[in-house]
Amino acid sequence: MREKALIDSLNGKTSKRPPFWFMRQAGRYLSEYRELRSRTGGFIDLCLNRAASTEVTLQPIRRFDPDAAILFSDILIVPYGLGMDVRFEEGKGPILDAVRDAKGLDKLSINKNWARIESTYETVDAVRSQLGSDKTLIGFSGSPWTVATYMVEGKSSKDYAIVKGWAYRETEVFERLINLLVAATIKHLSLQIDSGADVIKIFDTWAGVLSPAEYQKWVIKPSAEICSELKRRYPDVKIIGFPKGVGVGYIDFVSKVDVDGVAVDTSVPPKWAAEFLQNKVTVQGNLDPIVLTEGGDKMIDQARNIRESLQNGPFIFNLGHGVLPNTPVENLIELAEFLKTPLE
Ligand code: CP3
Repeated sequence: MREKALIDSLNGKTSKRPPFWFMRQAGRYLSEYRELRSRTGGFIDLCLNRAASTEVTLQPIRRFDPDAAILFSDILIVPYGLGMDVRFEEGKGPILDAVRDAKGLDKLSINKNWARIESTYETVDAVRSQLGSDKTLIGFSGSPWTVATYMVEGKSSKDYAIVKGWAYRETEVFERLINLLVAATIKHLSLQIDSGADVIKIFDTWAGVLSPAEYQKWVIKPSAEICSELKRRYPDVKIIGFPKGVGVGYIDFVSKVDVDGVAVDTSVPPKWAAEFLQNKVTVQGNLDPIVLTEGGDKMIDQARNIRESLQNGPFIFNLGHGVLPNTPVENLIELAEFLKTPLE
């Protein structure tokens, strides 16, 4: 049996059959997810229901037999644990009671409401006990910056004008929010590791919207703080960072943040990642989720090109962003078969 191929890869090993999993591998494109979701109330209820979230975490494992499961939860569980009201509305996405000043910040607490989200750690434990020993369990959080965008904008944003404006205008106050999120993220990830998560991934979906100095302040610095504290507490735990959309900024990220792996988005040329990132860390990526909705030769050709470019170094196959709700399951099945075939 393959013993945790994903961890081997994060330890720097190469393979002609690299490990794979898919971002957002659980979710609406799976009929068994939609069925369970329709019976479980709101999305936050689903995340916090131990039996249901365990089941949803395992659904894609049964379908595609990937090398890793990722905890079924959401990055916005952390603001919920800090005491914010978080809802998900059909067609709208997340809705939060926005924090935009010092007074709003004072209402948040890292201890008072944390019990709200503690079932998350029971899900980690339940999944780990049901998952084969060859499979890695990935725990995760959002990055402070990306989580802050939702907390300040109150929803998904088009231009991040409110959060970026606040960070320019009241830098010290905004920094308090980021520092609170650094502490909350360390707590959330530590509790997942204590409950059985083998690998941690930090999603920074909106890292790419910042100008260079702000990228250093709000992405690099907080990410470096989180990773160095996790490495101090858990020297053996592996960390994957995903600063999405940062282009050449990926080089700075892997030099300054103590990650074992970096996930690259679809815009990154695989050969560039092999040359400039893979000498420092394991690279994970980066099939276009849209080509996955189309399937066929285009999908396989792009997947082959990514493998040929990256599998001579430490590599984890994945998408450049999450599986979309309109993706035909057959395409993922075909892709998984291709990925299980060694490529010379
Ligand atoms: O990868 C997985 O399978 C694990 C589960 C997971 C979810 N969200 C489940 C989810 C993970 C790792 C996330 C991370 C997440 N959540 C990110 C970072 C990664 C990324 O996709 O960029 C972000 C930015 C969020 C915030 C979020 N959650 C948004 C903006 C939305 C609404 C948009 C949408 O796709 O519906 C969600 C909801 C969400 N998170 C769903 C799922 C399965 C859909 C909820 C539903 O069933 O209605």
